[in-house]
Amino acid sequence: MISIAIDGPAGAGKSTLSKRIASELGFLYIDTGALYRTVGLFMLSKFGTGMTAEQIDGAINECKIAMSIENGKQKIYLDGEDVSDKIRTPEVSMAASTVSARPAVRAYLLELQRKTARENNVLMDGRDIGTVVLPDAQVKIFLTASPEDRAKRRYHELEQKGLQVSYEDVLREVIQRDAQDSNRAIAPLKPAEGALLLDTTGNSFEKSLYQLKKLITDRLDALGLQY
Ligand code: DC
Repeated sequence: MISIAIDGPAGAGKSTLSKRIASELGFLYIDTGALYRTVGLFMLSKFGTGMTAEQIDGAINECKIAMSIENGKQKIYLDGEDVSDKIRTPEVSMAASTVSARPAVRAYLLELQRKTARENNVLMDGRDIGTVVLPDAQVKIFLTASPEDRAKRRYHELEQKGLQVSYEDVLREVIQRDAQDSNRAIAPLKPAEGALLLDTTGNSFEKSLYQLKKLITDRLDALGLQY
């Protein structure tokens, strides 16, 4: 099986680009942030925004997550309920970032991610795919962009979904999540050894798509892998 690992901070365009490239290459696209978001949603509904480390550690085993691919799209279920849309709010983003700092949560989600990669050619995106989840991935990419560019993208995404947010709030959240995700003790956000770096600041979507796809296919070709 072939694994492509794409890591990077919030809003770098990972999921939009990854989804498109995975479909063009015929790989299964796995958005691992959705798993952390689902745990975040679960803990929010149990404990609210003031959730403590002890509460998270104590409840993680009760969090029943299932992931499935339906019509080529990843769906995520919490206790049998499809929460694929519910997990896309700023409140759940922050909760996801908070729960993701807990080793018990990361351990809980690790096997689910590895199993999917054992059984499929995957393009998986997240924060620690190349460093922890799939250190033997044939292709590792670290995708980034300036905080302002990333906040702009997130802002437009949320606006399109009809959510009322201000650009300043989104930028503040992006910076806060960057700090939280990069400075945590376990699996912090950082480029994996041997990762190819791509900075999409100022790029159009088409330009980033072209550059990222070329990085990936050049690498697969260099390794002589058929896809
Ligand atoms: O990619 P995203 O915004 O959906 O991720 C939500 C949060 O989950 C993010 O702030 C950090 C965490 N996360 C993680 O720690 N490891 C991953 N592989 C993916 C996401």
